[in-house]
Amino acid sequence: MTHNRRRFLVAGCAGVAAAAIGTRSAGAASAAAWETVVNGSFASYATLESAWNYRYPWGSDHNGTARMYASASDHNHVYLESSGVLVLKATRISWDEGNSSADPHLPIRYHSGAVHAKQHVLVNDQFPNWEVRGEFQAPSARGTWPAFWLTGANSWPPESDILEFKGDSRNWFNTYRNANGGWSNTTVNVSSPGSWHGYRAWITKANATDVDIHYYLDGNWVGRHRGANFVNQPLWIIINLQMEGSSGSPGPTAATYYRARNLYVGRTRA
Ligand SMILES: *[C@@H]1O[C@H](CO)[C@@H](O)[C@H](O)[C@H]1NC(C)=O
Ligand SMILES: *[C@@H]1O[C@H](CO)[C@@H](O)[C@H](O)[C@H]1NC(C)=O
Ligand SMILES: *[C@@H]1O[C@H](CO)[C@@H](O)[C@H](O)[C@H]1NC(C)=O
Ligand SMILES: *[C@@H]1O[C@H](CO)[C@@H](O)[C@H](O)[C@H]1NC(C)=O
Ligand SMILES: *[C@@H]1O[C@H](CO)[C@@H](O)[C@H](O)[C@H]1NC(C)=O
Ligand SMILES: *[C@@H]1O[C@H](CO)[C@@H](O)[C@H](O)[C@H]1NC(C)=O
Repeated sequence: MTHNRRRFLVAGCAGVAAAAIGTRSAGAASAAAWETVVNGSFASYATLESAWNYRYPWGSDHNGTARMYASASDHNHVYLESSGVLVLKATRISWDEGNSSADPHLPIRYHSGAVHAKQHVLVNDQFPNWEVRGEFQAPSARGTWPAFWLTGANSWPPESDILEFKGDSRNWFNTYRNANGGWSNTTVNVSSPGSWHGYRAWITKANATDVDIHYYLDGNWVGRHRGANFVNQPLWIIINLQMEGSSGSPGPTAATYYRARNLYVGRTRA
C-alpha cells in the first residue's frame, strides 16, 4: 500500500494521541480517551512485580536453547539497573541440562530471562485501540534472539512480534494470522540495535473479528498488517531473551544483555 510515514503521537498526551490516530482509519477513536494500562513499571522491584510476572506465561522453556531463570529472589538473569531500566541477561552453561520442553526441543545451552505482563491486551468493543511500546537495547549477534511480542493467551494464533532480532541487525515486525491465513513480515534494518530504539505497535479494531496493526520504529511508521481473529482474544505481552534457534548457532560464549525502558501500554475506552 502507499502510505506516508507518519508519527503516531501519543507520548503522554491522551487527547493528542486520539486526535492523531483519528486522522487515519480509527475515526471512532477520535472521541475516545486514552488510558494508561502499564507505565513506569521498571522503577522498582515493587512496581515490576505488580505489573509483570517472571519467565514465560507457560514456564521456563520455549523455542530456542535458553532456559529462563528468574523470580523475586533470583535476579541473576532479570534485574533492574539505574533508573527504570530492565535487564535480561543470558549466560552460556557448560553442563548438560537436557532439552527444552517446548517444540522443537533444542538442547539447553543458556540460562536467560523473560517477563510477561499480568495485564493482557484484549481488543474488543470496549477497548478498540491499544498501544504497546518500549525502548530497547537489543543484542543482534548470531545466536541471540531477543523479542518483545504478543501471543494468544487462550490459543495460538494470534501473534504479533514488535521486536524480534534473529542474529543480525534486521528487526522483524510480524503478525500471525494475517488476512491470508499466514504471516505478515516487515523487516527493517536498524542501525546499531544495541543502542536505544523505540519499537511500537498500535492495534486497532477493524471489524468484529479483525484488527489492523501499525508498527513503528523510532516513531516512524513501517507497516500495517491485518490481523485476522484478534478481536476478543486475550494476548500475553512478553519480553524475553531467547538464544540460538531461529537466530543461528553457535551463539556467544560471553554474557548477552537485552535492556528495556519506558515500557508503555495504553488503550482507548469506547
Ligand atoms: C509514564 O511514566 C513516565 C515516567 O514515570 C511519565 O513521565 C509519563 O508522563 C507517563 N506517561 C503516561 C502516558 O502516563
Ligand atoms: C535433544 O537435542 C539433541 C540435539 O538437537 C537431539 O539430538 C535430541 O534428539 C534431543 N532429544 C530429545 C528428547 O528431543
Ligand atoms: C518462537 O518464538 C518467537 C518469539 O521469541 C516467535 O516470534 C516465533 O513465532 C516462535 N516460533 C515458533 C515456531 O514457535
Ligand atoms: C515471519 O516471521 C515469523 C516469526 O519470526 C517466522 O516464523 C516466519 O518464518 C517469517 N516468515 C517469513 C516468510 O520470513
Ligand atoms: C538492509 O541492509 C542490508 C545489508 O546492508 C542490505 O543488503 C539491504 O538492502 C538493507 N535493506 C533495507 C530494506 O534497507
Ligand atoms: C473482517 O475483515 C476481513 C477482511 O480483512 C473479512 O475477511 C472478514 O470477513 C471481516 N469480518 C467481519 C465479521 O466482517
